[in-house]
Amino acid sequence: MSEISIAENTQLQTIRDLSIATFRQTFAGTNTEEDMRDYIAHGLSPEVLGKELADPLQTFFVATVDGVPAGYMKVNLGTAQTERMPDDHAEVQRLYVLADFKRHGLGTRFMRTAEQFASAHGKQTLWLGVWEHNEPAKAFYRRMGFVETGAHTFVLGSDAQTDLIMKHALTAC
Ligand SMILES: CC(C)(COP(=O)(O)OP(=O)(O)OC[C@H]1O[C@@H](n2cnc3c(N)ncnc32)[C@H](O)[C@@H]1OP(=O)(O)O)[C@@H](O)C(=O)NCCC(=O)NCCS
Repeated sequence: MSEISIAENTQLQTIRDLSIATFRQTFAGTNTEEDMRDYIAHGLSPEVLGKELADPLQTFFVATVDGVPAGYMKVNLGTAQTERMPDDHAEVQRLYVLADFKRHGLGTRFMRTAEQFASAHGKQTLWLGVWEHNEPAKAFYRRMGFVETGAHTFVLGSDAQTDLIMKHALTAC
């Protein structure tokens, strides 16, 4: 049985394990090991993730399948968003499903959860940044109703990469 719930502060280790494993699975093939280690050491340290977990404007959701952690999502509201956006926007900053659990509908359920969460907070638009060359994720987001509206820069170690900005209006849901 699969379940998606908001992560508690006590789930820092689960979030960190999921973050590192999914980040490696997704990006190790297209980045240097040095840049990967740098991002994991700085962007996914216990201190950084602990602060994010404790921030009421940043919400982590964890999916479990038969009690086993299978993926996570992080949604940002207000000033926690990584770009300046209108007040009625919410950001899906991270959405990662472990390789063994992909294509079983968890990504869709995460996205529906983000939509409900954002709507419950009075938001009308979900947005996200996706690496311009992450074709599977772009296909998934298009399927979820997102459209490209722009781009921003994401620094991975020594490499400045281009993320596409995609948005999805919630009013039609
Ligand atoms: C993108 C991701 C979250 C999708 O999660 P998922 O649980 O596999 O997605 P779902 O099973 O709900 O897929 C729903 C639909 O999206 C589309 N889709 C999902 N993965 C796809 C892929 N690799 N290629 C093309 N379309 C895809 C399909 O239409 C799919 O429906 P189908 O399986 O009936 O064909 C997951 O693949 C993932 O974690 N990827 C690695 C991390 C990542 O890139 N995250 C985004 C960073 S910005």
